[in-house]
Amino acid sequence: MAARRRTASSGEARQFSRVAAIYDALMAGIAYDIWVRYIHTLWSSRGLEPRTVLDIACGTGNVSFRLAEEGLRVAGVDNSQEMIAVAESKLTRSQRLEGNPAFYCQDAAELDLPFTFDSALCLFDSFNYILDYERLCSAFRRTLLHLRPGGIFIFDVNTVYALSHGFFDQDNLSSDSYPRYVWRSSWDPVSRLCTVEMDFEVLTDSGVEGFREVHTQRGYTQQELTRGLESAGFSDISVFHAYTMRPPNRRSDRLYFVAQRPPE
Ligand SMILES: C[S@@+](CC[C@H](N)C(=O)[O-])C[C@H]1O[C@@H](n2cnc3c(N)ncnc32)[C@H](O)[C@@H]1O
Repeated sequence: MAARRRTASSGEARQFSRVAAIYDALMAGIAYDIWVRYIHTLWSSRGLEPRTVLDIACGTGNVSFRLAEEGLRVAGVDNSQEMIAVAESKLTRSQRLEGNPAFYCQDAAELDLPFTFDSALCLFDSFNYILDYERLCSAFRRTLLHLRPGGIFIFDVNTVYALSHGFFDQDNLSSDSYPRYVWRSSWDPVSRLCTVEMDFEVLTDSGVEGFREVHTQRGYTQQELTRGLESAGFSDISVFHAYTMRPPNRRSDRLYFVAQRPPE
């Protein structure tokens, strides 16, 4: 296994620094099991039964752990040291010994592991956090190089529709439990950047503490993403309204892309 590297050069990595410690509490209601089932449906639709999976922007490893527990060999990569530290802290002793899942701190645009995989995933808005189109295309190219010929790449994105319609204006103030949060978003239609000011309150030993993280996501069109995949060398590209096998519609808030590294 390669040494862990810290290659992220932009501010993108700092966006999940304070949030890392409370990420799993914030995601407690997220339907990861349903996502994983959907990923299996997408694999089946391509006749793939992967044995090795690269989970790009794995965060705290919630998908990596589920797949490893199914018996797949999984590597998770994220450019936030704090998110990777949380993922590693969740490894059991036997998972540590077997190195499955294995976690690496790397930037998706500079991905560099000495393995290839049957499939690569990048889930839950993660590519929206790459704000520069050329860097996103670089992430696609690096992903292709980490797939075996015929391997399948699956990722999701928030759509321009979701980012421009305040889907990130959220709070949980009606709940009594911590962490509490209030998120307010603003949308710039020219840059297609959605900036979300995220205010949190967490319960610590010394009482309630507040902090703010500002997250920025870029909205990419289906055409831009398809063009980026094609120019990276992917073929056989399908796009779905998330969690269905139907094509996107103008109100789709999340899209799933499935693409193949051409067989040799
Ligand atoms: C919303 S979280 C999703 C995490 C995980 N995929 C999940 O489903 O819980 C977005 C993740 O993308 C990571 N990320 C953002 N930009 C990245 C980049 N350029 N390279 C690698 N990871 C990145 C962040 O650190 C964060 O962990």
